[in-house]
Amino acid sequence: MTPLAADADRLLVEAESTTQFTWDYEPGNAQLTRLYEKGKVSQWNATTDVDWSQDVCWGEPDPSLSEDERAMIGSFLNLDAPDSPFQGMTEAQRTLVGWELQAWMVSQFMHGEQGALVATARLVETVPDIESKYYAANQVNDEARHVEAYATYLGTKLPGHTYEISGPLEALLVDIMTERRWDITYLGMQIMVEGLALAAFGMGNVMFNDPVIKQITDLVMRDEARHVAFGVLALKEVVPELSAAELADREEFLLEATDLMYRRFLLEQLWERLGVDVEEGKAFAATNPLMIMFRQVLFSKIVPNVNKLGLMTPRVRQCFEDLQVAQFADQLDTASEELSSLDAVDNLADVARAAG
Ligand SMILES: [Fe+2]
Ligand SMILES: [Fe+2]
Repeated sequence: MTPLAADADRLLVEAESTTQFTWDYEPGNAQLTRLYEKGKVSQWNATTDVDWSQDVCWGEPDPSLSEDERAMIGSFLNLDAPDSPFQGMTEAQRTLVGWELQAWMVSQFMHGEQGALVATARLVETVPDIESKYYAANQVNDEARHVEAYATYLGTKLPGHTYEISGPLEALLVDIMTERRWDITYLGMQIMVEGLALAAFGMGNVMFNDPVIKQITDLVMRDEARHVAFGVLALKEVVPELSAAELADREEFLLEATDLMYRRFLLEQLWERLGVDVEEGKAFAATNPLMIMFRQVLFSKIVPNVNKLGLMTPRVRQCFEDLQVAQFADQLDTASEELSSLDAVDNLADVARAAG
């Protein structure tokens, strides 16, 4: 289903979904309950926990970076490759490329966070059991704070530099929000979008140019691993129960989402704003080895979780092999990673204290 109407300021998505009430108030999943306890005591405040007094100087090199670090970022972006659209640029222009990339990434984070906000609000209604409703409600609060922090940053620190939502991200959000099967909402948002974000935040924080965005992203990352873990814990109960036809639908959804997130991640909007020929820029992003590696790293948190869920069907494995990301399958999944950090404590009060 496509949006009924949209204008420059909003996107409308029509959907049918089934709200589930439960009269069983006894939480049945101890691992989810532990995550929920951690979520309750891990709240931060975007107004007071970010040092907004620090100046952000658009276009200026990050004063906290050494020459070596700057050179490392330059080589990461592969500015001197023979096919690079950045060849012949002055140092100042290259610094500006870094700022535009930052503005683009943070803008997509903000739009993706709003997607997470509305998707988890939907989950509160549609998931069947009480502990998932508790956890999803807690996450709604987290996501509101994430949108708020990124929107405040863009509005006050980088005014005039916000990018619109990218086409592939918008298409994925529409796919997720038109879906009435709650496990596919989880799969799309908690496993794919949030899994990609988790890796992107880590990379972003190496490349970002100022301390304010680094502080925000550190705070957001603390919450995101827990969110992806929530998706893994909830879905691993569901996947074994699926019929062959239902599994085929999830497989199809995964392949479509992978296509949107990997193959179409070619930085179109960035080339446009930089005045680089868009086709030339897209060709560079599609074929340059370091840009390919950049996209592969974005899948480093998705692949082990898909594997853990039992969704690594032959078609999905083939797709991941084609994209050279199948090697991440053996890495630890996010739920095991997150829960092992809580294993040292054996009761919920201690979990809460440890998280705090
Ligand atoms: Fe978030
Ligand atoms: Fe999240």
